Amino acid sequence: MGEKLLTISELNLEGKFVGFVGDTGKFKYLRLAIPAGDVQVKLPKELRASLGSSLVPGEQIRVDGVSKLDPHTGKITFKANRVKLTGSCPNHNLTPQTKAKIMVCQKLGCMKRGGKGLLSELEKTLCDRGLLDKVTIEHTGCQKRCSSAPNCVVRIGKKQYKKIHPEAIASLLENHFT
Ligand code: FES
Repeated sequence: MGEKLLTISELNLEGKFVGFVGDTGKFKYLRLAIPAGDVQVKLPKELRASLGSSLVPGEQIRVDGVSKLDPHTGKITFKANRVKLTGSCPNHNLTPQTKAKIMVCQKLGCMKRGGKGLLSELEKTLCDRGLLDKVTIEHTGCQKRCSSAPNCVVRIGKKQYKKIHPEAIASLLENHFT
């Protein structure tokens, strides 16, 4: 039986991203170097894939979330709600650049499995978060990955992301353009 954790405070930590911790490829936790030492922060599921493919060790990031206390053991854990880049490391250019591109498959295989809903959810999320003018949304033909429909590909700078949720796309864009 798991102990119920008590939320003790909001978390706003700024520091250097050291790397991911835990099972390879799962990106469940990240390690952050702050003046007081290294801390481990649990990442929300919807951000793991996008952060796993975009964060580079050495980058300055800000983690917003909560700290929780296990009343039984006294152990404090940190959980992120949001992770933002705050600066650039010397070998990673993060200056804002041209529009990102989102290519959404609108062929039958994807349409039958939620392609239309994906497109409208994407447009709504980007609109709600003030990001619509930062992207070009393209409708494409079959992207040859019908088994993982509905599909979209996000291209931001030189990076490309597949199979990520509209909320995660919006977070990626915010990280990129701020
Ligand atoms: S129909 Fe969308 S990937 Fe094939």
